[in-house]
Amino acid sequence: MPAKLDPWGSMKIENYEKLFAEFGIEPFEKFKEKFKDNRYVRRGIIFGHRDFERIAYAVQKKEKFAMMTGLMPSGKFHFGHKMVADEIIWFQELGAETYVCVADIEAYNMRDIDLKQARKLAVEEYLLNYIALGLKGKNLNFYFQSSYKIPYYLFRDTLSKRATFNELRGIYGELSPGKILSVLTQVADILHPQLDEFSGRMPVVVPVGSDQDPHLRLTRDIAAKLNFILPSSTYHKFMEGLQGGKMSSSDPKSYISLTENPKDAVKKIMRAKTGGRNTAEEQKELGGIPGQCMVYEFFVYHLIDDDKELHEIYHECKSGNLRCGDCKKKCADLMEKFLYAHREKREKSRNVVAQILGN
Ligand code: TRP
Ligand code: SF4
Repeated sequence: MPAKLDPWGSMKIENYEKLFAEFGIEPFEKFKEKFKDNRYVRRGIIFGHRDFERIAYAVQKKEKFAMMTGLMPSGKFHFGHKMVADEIIWFQELGAETYVCVADIEAYNMRDIDLKQARKLAVEEYLLNYIALGLKGKNLNFYFQSSYKIPYYLFRDTLSKRATFNELRGIYGELSPGKILSVLTQVADILHPQLDEFSGRMPVVVPVGSDQDPHLRLTRDIAAKLNFILPSSTYHKFMEGLQGGKMSSSDPKSYISLTENPKDAVKKIMRAKTGGRNTAEEQKELGGIPGQCMVYEFFVYHLIDDDKELHEIYHECKSGNLRCGDCKKKCADLMEKFLYAHREKREKSRNVVAQILGN
């Protein structure tokens, strides 16, 4: 039996290609040219999709579409989260009606995070950073699973009729009441924009990590039964942690947060795992391995937008001309600049956040 994708597990996805064959996720390749303005598309970080044709078509014809995704507020907002924020902002800029859900009920049931704490994290860590990164209040529905509009709850609470226990077990394996509630809530999250009380029937794209694909499979089955337009999805790769392994909010050594003290961020970069060799001689002779280097990963995901500049670093590293020390220094400088600028943008974003939350 193929391994299941577990939305609540901590499995690292080793082989993205396998997801194509095993789950029917399709390669994003064919949209690369059309959406090459986006760094994550260009660099293969957004690597897969379901039914993205519908969204590409809507963008091209300037027809209405929506973007819907959710976040589990778990701790500090770090550079792994920034990638997702940039994707959301990208879809908003492409014209999507934007829905962002704070999965506080899921966090409560599955991660034992209390609702007050979740709310505080969602606002201070997520929303404020989203706005500072460029998300606009216009065309944005930012909501909490625990306090939203009545039609959403009515919809969620009638969804259980549309799935069977065996179907859920087939997709998620072992079930618990908390899981089932989280799953039905997420189906409602993804489909409710198409209700008349919200945006009405239209294509909806859900940008997520591939661990969330089980939810999409279920949601698409249910959408078909309800005569909704099947939601499209895109799948992104995740950055690794600074020491290799997973980048996780529960391990501060694994990430740099967007509110990190710039001096501490510099220290973290200087200590990051690289693809460098043991000695300077070996490095010269064999070259470094950018594909295993966390410093390089920061360039790819966040710090260097110019492809030519990035290729040059790649090449210089591989050919042994670049020293990790110098390379880290460059990364640290870019990071420091980014963090100082971001700090200011955050402060300027507070009034927008207050507006969005209606206080
Ligand atoms: N389950 C998602 C997570 O763990 C959060 C989430 C809730 C979500 N509702 C959603 C994601 C709807 C995409 C679409 O991060
Ligand atoms: Fe990484 Fe730069 Fe060292 Fe290459 S030279 S391994 S990219 S730090």
